[in-house]
Amino acid sequence: MTRAKNPPPGPSIAIVGLGHVGLATALAFCSHGRHVTGYDADPQRRSTVAGGTSPFYEPGLSSLLRRHTRAGGLKVVDSISDAVACSRLLFLAVPTPSGPMGEVDLTAVRSAAEEIGVALRNVGRWTSVVMKSTTVPGTVDGSLTRILAHRSLRQPDLDFGVGSNPEFLSEGTMVHDALHPYRIVIGVRDPRTRSLLRAAYAVFRSPIVEMTPAGAELVKYAANAMLATRVSFANEFSRVAEVAGVDIYPVLAAVGLDPRIGPGFLRAGPGFGGSCFTKDLRALLRWAAERSVELQIPSAVLAVNERQATHVVDVAEREAGSLRGKKVALLGLAFKAGCDDTAESRAYPIYSELRRRGAHPILYDPRAGPNFVNGLAASGSTAHVGLTRVARSAQEALAKSDLAIIQADWPEFRKIPARDWARLGLRLIVDARRSVGSDRLERHGLRYRAIGRPAQQRRPEVA
Ligand code: UGA
Repeated sequence: MTRAKNPPPGPSIAIVGLGHVGLATALAFCSHGRHVTGYDADPQRRSTVAGGTSPFYEPGLSSLLRRHTRAGGLKVVDSISDAVACSRLLFLAVPTPSGPMGEVDLTAVRSAAEEIGVALRNVGRWTSVVMKSTTVPGTVDGSLTRILAHRSLRQPDLDFGVGSNPEFLSEGTMVHDALHPYRIVIGVRDPRTRSLLRAAYAVFRSPIVEMTPAGAELVKYAANAMLATRVSFANEFSRVAEVAGVDIYPVLAAVGLDPRIGPGFLRAGPGFGGSCFTKDLRALLRWAAERSVELQIPSAVLAVNERQATHVVDVAEREAGSLRGKKVALLGLAFKAGCDDTAESRAYPIYSELRRRGAHPILYDPRAGPNFVNGLAASGSTAHVGLTRVARSAQEALAKSDLAIIQADWPEFRKIPARDWARLGLRLIVDARRSVGSDRLERHGLRYRAIGRPAQQRRPEVA
């Protein structure tokens, strides 16, 4: 990405929260020639970022971070009041995890808003506080505005502004997504916040869609619910295809050629993971139920997703017989290839199901091994942690196993020579992602089973 030579003037920007979303957003603004002040509540993270090192793995992010911290485009400060003092437009990009009942846990939003509110007391000019974190409709107009007004002793819309500007970044492609968003949604209720957001984004070549803050908050939930629905649709149909004796991949490719449907998010696999789809669907269900609206689609989407991970193990068991005592190489632990994030990764339910059926998983991921084991420990599965073996390479996992299950399609799996796969005791591969392709392996006498593809395909029938 080349920095705009003469970017049109824009507001001073601060971002509170330097996680995936906050950092990718900050660096996208910097790449477009804006100066950004960053703050994170975690001092360790502040110093890591200030030193130009990314606190997590995300392709392309480290080099951009180094460049902009060195050039002074991104400055990290040690207090929210400094972030407020340096900016007219302040984005909140703090975590909004699931609470115990699926509701959005606003602890981090509240605590940041309290501090921003106090800091606003000492600022003699207009500041707009814009929510980037995912929050249910009404949070910006409700809790955020109330806390800021209460703490700042100032009037919303007269002395300070609020807004919503949800993010649509996908892990693994965050830098590209932040630089070239499909659309920029701004939820505003006062003209000054509108102009600040429009001026900040004037350097991006993406359509800007404007609505109320609650509308913008709902766009985020609707978008994620639609994407998750498509994945569950593809997965449910993959089971239909298996019993119909056909391969789901060409079927959905043909379905997706209809421009009313489109090809995206129709890849059948082990189910969706990641920190957003499940969390957001649960939050949506909870929020609607509290308003006596019974939603059926999100519940069905979540149920299909849960079922799909078990289905992967069913396919393995159908082919291998009882899994009791068998060693299973579980390849790909991240929720998808290209990142080290294991949040809601389908590798967890597959792992648990394997253990429940008496199998011994041997784990491998190019990047996510430590996060996966930490996740097991955090979920209370400590009994398993001591027994769980994490291999140093895919080849090492294969050499010790009877069969392999591929959960995430890391490119390196495609490069494994057939002779290394052939070390599997049962010479059986269950590929949940169509990662490695069948022909080459079947020629070496390996049994290759893919989700959504029957063991034996029916020949086209002559009418
Ligand atoms: C998702 C959305 O795609 C982003 O637009 C959104 O901003 C983000 O959530 C969020 O709310 O923060 P992300 O979870 O990073 O992004 O990753 P995706 O690429 O959407 O994948 C989600 C899961 O669905 C992964 O497990 C992936 O493997 C799975 N998937 C995706 C499929 O199984 N099939 C598909 O066809 C597509």
